[in-house]
Amino acid sequence: MISKLSHSLRSVAPALTRAVHSGTRPASTAASKLKMDQPLTAEEVYAREEKYGAHNYHPLPVALEKGKGLYVWDVEGNRYYDFLSAYSAVNQGHCHPKIIAALNAQASRLTLTSRAFYNDILGAYEQYITTLFGYDKVLPMNTGVEGGETACKLARKWAYTVKGVPKNQAKIIFANGNFWGRTMAAISSSTDPSSYEDFGPFMPGFGLIPYNDIPALEKALQDPNVAAFMVEPIQGEAGVVIPDPGIPHHSDEVQTGLARTGRRLAVDHEEVRPDIVILGKALSGGVYPVSAVLCDDEVMLTIKPGEHGSTYGGNPLACGVAMAALEVLEEEKLAENAEKMGQLLRSELSKLPKEIVPIVRGKGLLNAIVIKETKDYDAWRVCMRLRDNGLLAKPTHGDIIRLAPPLIIKDHEVRECADIIQRTIMSF
Ligand SMILES: Cc1ncc(COP(=O)(O)O)c(C=O)c1O
Repeated sequence: MISKLSHSLRSVAPALTRAVHSGTRPASTAASKLKMDQPLTAEEVYAREEKYGAHNYHPLPVALEKGKGLYVWDVEGNRYYDFLSAYSAVNQGHCHPKIIAALNAQASRLTLTSRAFYNDILGAYEQYITTLFGYDKVLPMNTGVEGGETACKLARKWAYTVKGVPKNQAKIIFANGNFWGRTMAAISSSTDPSSYEDFGPFMPGFGLIPYNDIPALEKALQDPNVAAFMVEPIQGEAGVVIPDPGIPHHSDEVQTGLARTGRRLAVDHEEVRPDIVILGKALSGGVYPVSAVLCDDEVMLTIKPGEHGSTYGGNPLACGVAMAALEVLEEEKLAENAEKMGQLLRSELSKLPKEIVPIVRGKGLLNAIVIKETKDYDAWRVCMRLRDNGLLAKPTHGDIIRLAPPLIIKDHEVRECADIIQRTIMSF
């Protein structure tokens, strides 16, 4: 693999070097040379990213160029079932026609005003999303982690201005294994060394308790300086870890929200109403970074003009896309479908031999299997062979494979995919 990569790097590098370093060539010509040259092979795609991009990811070797619904296609024309859905951003399926139509319509009308001015679509979106989720107000941002940052700032502001916590003493409690992104604040609450190691010093005022541990939570909440308990209803990045029923969930629905687990929000399984809900990912159906923080006036109105914001947060393009993405979830009843198809998927997967796949777990269409590692196979090698058999999934934490297709998947497609997974597992 390494020798193949360096070989294709050599073959692709000269053309790229020319384009990048010819100072007199107009930028547009250089860019079109890069794009318009004959299509790259998969190896060349990997080599180009390896050479010019930061090495902060370890992608499965597949070079995608097209997506539609449940499927993605690679540069060689091979079709795959997408069982990652861009970490649950593509719940509505790739390039959903209604969302793309909204994107195109808004893109040719008005894309960005900044919040220095009003625009004619932000209020419509705010009304729509707050009515749908039953909160007084929304604060629009872009990425999921900005949603988490916003929620932390709201919690601190509320703690100082309403609860009466002494200045700079507010504490936010998180659960071990949490993942809410890559900013300094997000890694400061992380228990995963690959997230925080060598990035200190860290943000103060964060506490940790074990996941799914009510006595520990009750004890932590006795501290009068606690501003919030921020938790994912199901820990997606930790390998789809599900708490026992009855735990009061709060907040981070970036991955679990928007129909993924078989309800509009994962907390709806428990009939819990969090004080703050953070949404992201599928809020745009995978076409654009859109995130949102929902809460009631008591919390939201603690932040005053000039105290928080984002140039792109709540931009007209994002508002148009997010409304369409939410409408698709409702119109196509994707939560109901996720619930039914998730049950079917888990019942099919539970037929896999227990000595290889001891655990199948999940809710709705956020599922995981645990692969018992031997000298012949591990989760990474299973994912490579799944790819060869036409299904894309990504290992997490060494022995776990997350299985999270777009929520538009139908009965016969679930059965076909379960069959691919079974054939793959049995082929080692
Ligand atoms: C639960 C959860 N919260 C927050 C985030 C961060 O979202 P983003 O990558 O858009 O910043 C993620 C991303 O995987 C997530 O899974």
